[in-house]
Amino acid sequence: MVSGPFVMQCSRMIRMRDDVMDMFDADPTVLHMNSGAFGMVPRSVREAQRRWSDRVEANPVRFFRQECHDELARVRAEVERFLGVGDGSTALVRNVSEGVGVILDAIGLGEGDEVVVSDHGYPTVATAAAVRGAHERIAGFAIDATDDEIVEAFRAQVTERTKLVVIDQITSPTALMLPVKAVVDAVAPVPVYVDAAHASGTLDVDVAGLGAAFWATNLHKWCYTPRGTGALWVAPEYRDAIRSAVTSWTSARGFPASHDFPGTVDFTPMLAILDGLAFWREHGGFEIAARSTDLLRTGSEIVHRQLAMAFPGDMPAYDHGWPARTAPTMRLVPLPDGLIGDAEDAAAVYRAMSDSGVECPPVYFAGRGYIRLGGGLHVDELDYDRCAAALIAALRTVSGY
Ligand SMILES: Cc1ncc(COP(=O)(O)O)c(C=O)c1O
Repeated sequence: MVSGPFVMQCSRMIRMRDDVMDMFDADPTVLHMNSGAFGMVPRSVREAQRRWSDRVEANPVRFFRQECHDELARVRAEVERFLGVGDGSTALVRNVSEGVGVILDAIGLGEGDEVVVSDHGYPTVATAAAVRGAHERIAGFAIDATDDEIVEAFRAQVTERTKLVVIDQITSPTALMLPVKAVVDAVAPVPVYVDAAHASGTLDVDVAGLGAAFWATNLHKWCYTPRGTGALWVAPEYRDAIRSAVTSWTSARGFPASHDFPGTVDFTPMLAILDGLAFWREHGGFEIAARSTDLLRTGSEIVHRQLAMAFPGDMPAYDHGWPARTAPTMRLVPLPDGLIGDAEDAAAVYRAMSDSGVECPPVYFAGRGYIRLGGGLHVDELDYDRCAAALIAALRTVSGY
């Protein structure tokens, strides 16, 4: 029989999680363990966005002609302050994907040029390079590679045709923090673009100090802002070459103001950025990520232990410190040997988990399956038990084990 204190402890945890979930409109019966993928917008931020929408509708002409330009400039200045970057260094973009196109056009990427990406990188850059006639060269390294191995993997792919090196500050499939500054130094003078989609709100980055040419981030992943809110920082020597993704009547204002107004669009996500950042601050700021890191250490042990019990003999031993450079709010746990043979198996496991109300991504990387656990304000220790149960059931269904 379960003892009293344990039950009290559990009910306190459940109450805490329920209280947190109550601040969001996300379905509380679903386990949201991948909230960094597309963000999770608090109700208070959605309400703030709705207030902006009411103001726009009250007098659209006045809002678009007179008011929105100053409001957007104010938001942009506050975002610069939040990121700790200089005035006039950073444009508002809808997301990192928009930033990528702007960067590739600024460096004049074209036929026959080369871009170095890594095998842990988000695929958009390689696709955006390919449509411009450029080739990708892939820096490959293991999940447990050392700094030196990672730096060398990038350096070895640089040739005289390399126009840009792209490094993810936090990798998406493998949830690793990469040694950005060391790579920037090693490939100099080739310009580096840092894909920092997962960095804002989880890592306190000295953006200018990295020495990169470009750095782009999403605020909507971990900063509780509405979707469609990102930022593009550009080193001074590239700012004159930067053109906004959409040419509008404000383009002549130059970087970064030229990005504020991509014609007539819905500006309410951008205008509610400050409410998202206020929510992030109010609930602990970087402490949210620090708590997630602790939670993920325990959560990965829980999931590993349950997998080892369900699939005895097929689990690699659990190493508490693995992987050494794991991201603050996401962490990989290896899956039992042989159950996931390719990306399609991983997608099938994902679908089965999602059907059972658990959002947590299985990953197939370099010949092995993993589950990428997530943290966040709304996640608690008990969630990892539920995640493990759904994962085990999905693995059994897909593999017939
Ligand atoms: C590392 C990385 N880069 C880029 C992106 C693309 O983000 P968006 O679709 O908001 O442009 C993601 C999305 O998950 C990502 O993880």
